[in-house]
Amino acid sequence: MTLLPALPFRLHPNAAKGRAGAAVLDAAGFAEARAAITSWPGYAATPLVDLPGLARALGIAALGWKDEGGRFGLGSFKALGGAYAVARHLARTLAARGITATDADLAAGRHAALTRDITVTCATDGNHGRSVAWGAQRFHCRAVIYIHETVSDGRAAAIARFGAEVRRVPGTYDDAVRRAAEDAAAQGWTVVSDTSYPGYTDIPRDVMQGYRVMADEAFAQWTGPAPTHLFVQGGVGGVAAAVAAQAALHFGADRPHLIVVEPDRFDCLYRSAVVGTPTPSPPGPDTLMAGLACGEVSILAFDELLHRADAFMAVPDEAVAPAMRALASGVDGDPGVVAGESAVAGLIGLALARHDPAAAAALGLDAAARVLLFGTEGATDPELYARLVAVPS
Ligand SMILES: Cc1ncc(COP(=O)(O)O)c(C=O)c1O
Repeated sequence: MTLLPALPFRLHPNAAKGRAGAAVLDAAGFAEARAAITSWPGYAATPLVDLPGLARALGIAALGWKDEGGRFGLGSFKALGGAYAVARHLARTLAARGITATDADLAAGRHAALTRDITVTCATDGNHGRSVAWGAQRFHCRAVIYIHETVSDGRAAAIARFGAEVRRVPGTYDDAVRRAAEDAAAQGWTVVSDTSYPGYTDIPRDVMQGYRVMADEAFAQWTGPAPTHLFVQGGVGGVAAAVAAQAALHFGADRPHLIVVEPDRFDCLYRSAVVGTPTPSPPGPDTLMAGLACGEVSILAFDELLHRADAFMAVPDEAVAPAMRALASGVDGDPGVVAGESAVAGLIGLALARHDPAAAAALGLDAAARVLLFGTEGATDPELYARLVAVPS
């Protein structure tokens, strides 16, 4: 059985892999993030689902799906990053005034008299803003969240539900990033962004340290011989960088191959890897994979990936609905899995590469491969999800 038709894709094996680079995500920062996040009320590891039927269909030995749909009730792995960075920011601000506050203190509102005057802000295509809004509500500060033209009303409402002010601005995600930065500078707010740029790296580093909890759980949950390949979707590169750093910590030199997969319409990581330096993707049509619709890389994440990723791929939108449907219905006896539009890029990369002899050879992707995929979101836009998984008439 072929999961997907033979659609066009691009593959760039990363010649820069292994070249020494600056450490972007240190182990101590991860240990702090893990201790904090696992102490939050409602914390539970998300499931790692074994999909042997899909593995058979793809002609590989094993396939694991780390299902982030249930993360803290927010629907995506992003719950780990933005909210954690909000807590860190509040704790640091209080520390500067001589006050020591744990996440539990903040959540209990012990310093609310001070923290409610603090405003955090960010741009989002949905999931990150939801996490920042949730963190602001949980830890008692104010949030103003910027969304661009094409973010759905459903996603906007999901952010507003956590008490944040949501502002819609013209243009793209990258325009919203700039607008959040400008307004924050004018108003004395703090940008809690999931992307880093020159002069702004501390908070996005906290965000990525939070994401590492997802990979840490998955590696601990994996049973049998270790995975050989990780296919991770890329927006600005934050989650792929977090997985890369965690794989290096967990597996050392024998770590699995890591392949970063982006929509071919928003391939800033791919282009940057080809050139060797941050390079934007040119303006063009939108992608269904809203969480991956990023035209510019996070500089920290790109540094990490340039030294650690094995390859970069760019895949077409046409594969999204078929991949979501295959997961939803379950292949060959597998359980059904709810995967949103931005969660399936890794599976698309795997399926296209596995069925292309040159790509499969370049990635060492053969019948013995054991692949771990990160289902980074569930149905975060339920209407769109229902439309895409509906059987085509
Ligand atoms: C569901 C989902 N998966 C993956 C990503 C990509 O993450 P990053 O931008 O850190 O590369 C996003 C980003 O918003 C997302 O929402």
